[in-house]
Amino acid sequence: MSWQIPLFDPDFDEREEEAVASVIRSKWLTMGERTSRFEARFAEFCGSRHALAVSNCTAALHLALMALGIGPGDEVIVPALTFVATANAVRYCGATPVFADVSSLDEWNLSAASIEPLLTDHSRAIIVVHYAGYPCDMPGITALARQRGIPVVEDVAHAPGASLEGRAMGAWGDVGCFSFFSNKNMTTGEGGMVTTDRDDLAELLRRTRSHGMTTLTLERHKGHAFSYDVVELGYNYRMSELNAALGLCQLERLPESNRRRAAHVARYRELLCAIPGLQVPFSRSRGEPAFHIMPVLLPTGANRVAIMQAMKEAGVQTSIHYRPVDSFSAYVAAGLGPSPHVPLTHDIGARTLTLPLFPSMNDAQVEHVCASLSLALSAQN
Ligand SMILES: Cc1ncc(COP(=O)(O)O)c(C=O)c1O
Repeated sequence: MSWQIPLFDPDFDEREEEAVASVIRSKWLTMGERTSRFEARFAEFCGSRHALAVSNCTAALHLALMALGIGPGDEVIVPALTFVATANAVRYCGATPVFADVSSLDEWNLSAASIEPLLTDHSRAIIVVHYAGYPCDMPGITALARQRGIPVVEDVAHAPGASLEGRAMGAWGDVGCFSFFSNKNMTTGEGGMVTTDRDDLAELLRRTRSHGMTTLTLERHKGHAFSYDVVELGYNYRMSELNAALGLCQLERLPESNRRRAAHVARYRELLCAIPGLQVPFSRSRGEPAFHIMPVLLPTGANRVAIMQAMKEAGVQTSIHYRPVDSFSAYVAAGLGPSPHVPLTHDIGARTLTLPLFPSMNDAQVEHVCASLSLALSAQN
């Protein structure tokens, strides 16, 4: 299907092409000097002491929870309004995800108030997601976590480049986990990054992303080491040099890409507020968002599938972010859903619709999306 206006469209040019070609010419394809450079620039960009490149954000979340010692019998607070990977990572560790609700129908993020009633003696961590790129109330959430003596993991998949009070998202919690999947604000195809200020966690994360080994292939290639030990159970969650080369280019573009996203969202908001019954969340966002996706809340009773079909006929791709994680069959079968604690998330899950958003969009495209949505909705009245 070739969409007139796709949901997302990555921003690449000859810089990315040349970067990938130069990796191939170099003949060094796995975690090497480009990966180290990407990590150093990313750490600087986030203001974190450490940044470790990994194969994707799911791996980043898994490593983060393992490094924090999460295991069977432990509970980890997670949003239900997220991609399933956030909660799956908790289950990989044998721990139990406990679903917390969004703050309100306007703020689709967890808050200290939505987390606090769910904390028990078994709570061992909180994972927050900066949904759609809008920063969570990190001062409130980290204060609550400190008071209870538990760590905070930030799932920053939607929010690279977002900040609050001058501090980057991903640098507020104990660990930040980023995604560079194809639809993200910066992409390497598949890829991720873990950020932390804690030296103890960084050391563990560095080893467990590569089988628990004490030296790397690159170090042995350079003659800096001849052998290695395996000192804990690790994984192969490494990043390739091809991905890192793309990441270096994409990181450079990110501030400008995010500025363009912000301008499109501002225009969307102007146009969408004229559509009766439609709500656009995050009317009072905090900090500097990264504007990853453009969600709206349809009026109660609207036929979402019919709207998506009508917009498809107008050449506009739409999506749903997200079906609440606790409603998936695998979660219900495991006794982890449906959760009675997330009524707002269930309402949002039934009514949300995601509109196209990408840096190279133009005003006419934003106008066409809004006109097609308006038409589809008025056809139902
Ligand atoms: C909120 C959130 N968390 C985690 C992930 C998983 O990222 P990855 O595909 O890099 O594993 C995604 C990806 O879509 C996401 O949106």
